Amino acid sequence: MSGSRILGTGSALPRRVVTNAELATRVDTSDEWITARTGIRQRYIAEPDETTSSLAIAAARAALEDAGIEPGSIGLIVLATATPDQTFPATATKVQAALGCNGGIAFDVAAVCSGFLYALSVADSMLKTGMARRALVIGAETFSRILDWEDRTTCVLFGDGAGAVVLEAPGGSADGAGILGTRLHADGAQHDLLYVDGGPSTTQTTGHVRMRGPEVFRHAVVNLSDVLKEVLEETGVSAEDIDWVVPHQANARILDATARKLGISPDKVVVTVQDHANTSAASVPLALDCARKDGRIKPGDLVMLEAMGGGFTWGASLVRM
Ligand code: COA
Repeated sequence: MSGSRILGTGSALPRRVVTNAELATRVDTSDEWITARTGIRQRYIAEPDETTSSLAIAAARAALEDAGIEPGSIGLIVLATATPDQTFPATATKVQAALGCNGGIAFDVAAVCSGFLYALSVADSMLKTGMARRALVIGAETFSRILDWEDRTTCVLFGDGAGAVVLEAPGGSADGAGILGTRLHADGAQHDLLYVDGGPSTTQTTGHVRMRGPEVFRHAVVNLSDVLKEVLEETGVSAEDIDWVVPHQANARILDATARKLGISPDKVVVTVQDHANTSAASVPLALDCARKDGRIKPGDLVMLEAMGGGFTWGASLVRM
């Protein structure tokens, strides 16, 4: 049986674009280094009046419009973020208030760059058990606020943004659309390879991103290709049948290496990292929205979503659009 189906997608980006060349005027780096090592050419950075919730609300509104439904029918909002507006309440509740669909369920999920996959899976499970009929699943970040702008090994890699999907409980439609299978994992033993060095219960500060990039790179390729294989096995789909892979956009070289390991043509991989950099939980729904809106992903396509992030956490989900 298919899982919940995606009725619409939306995304939002901050107003300000920061190119590699502009960054190189502030940090000891160069456009050549960033482009060659990561594929990133620019990123969007939130202005002081732009927040995780404001980006999430804009992406949610765009997804609702795309789906052609009113906010009032949304009974569940699951928002993935590592950069909430406040420690509490959940940023999802701010989105709920802005949309005026108060009274349903709203909460945040923390799984960093895999957050959207975790949120999608949680929402799908809740819709299947009848907790709500329609959900908004959002990935939204202002990662620029937790970057150490003196650390060139991390600050050049990330950007801000939001993406959202409207999800509807499986309803016996005959077209087979919906989430076909999902696998999620975490390995808390890898904490020190990618983390933030602050938090309410430890330093009472927000902290900054710390990462051992080359080690994260190696784990990412292995973990992602393994979890993709698991989802293919679970769903009985072969790699050749996939129309599009929509990966977490961390580094163009990780995307290439993962696709190559699975024998998936690079032409089938949606790549937006050059424009957005790594937007953490926002990256998968942002890329999904871009590829739907530019006409690449069409109804009926078989789409693999995948991500890995701090924790480590990682996961993949196969969806018939
Ligand atoms: N500009 C210029 N030089 C830089 C730089 C920058 N922004 N950042 C690092 N360097 C330098 C390093 O200091 C190092 O110099 P050295 O050889 O003199 O010591 C050199 O570039 C190579 O650094 P290294 O870290 O080995 O490069 P790399 O090829 O592994 O690329 C990453 C670094 C971070 C781009 C890469 O490891 C990566 O993408 N890792 C995965 C990160 C990721 O996906 N994180 C998110 C997961 S959710």
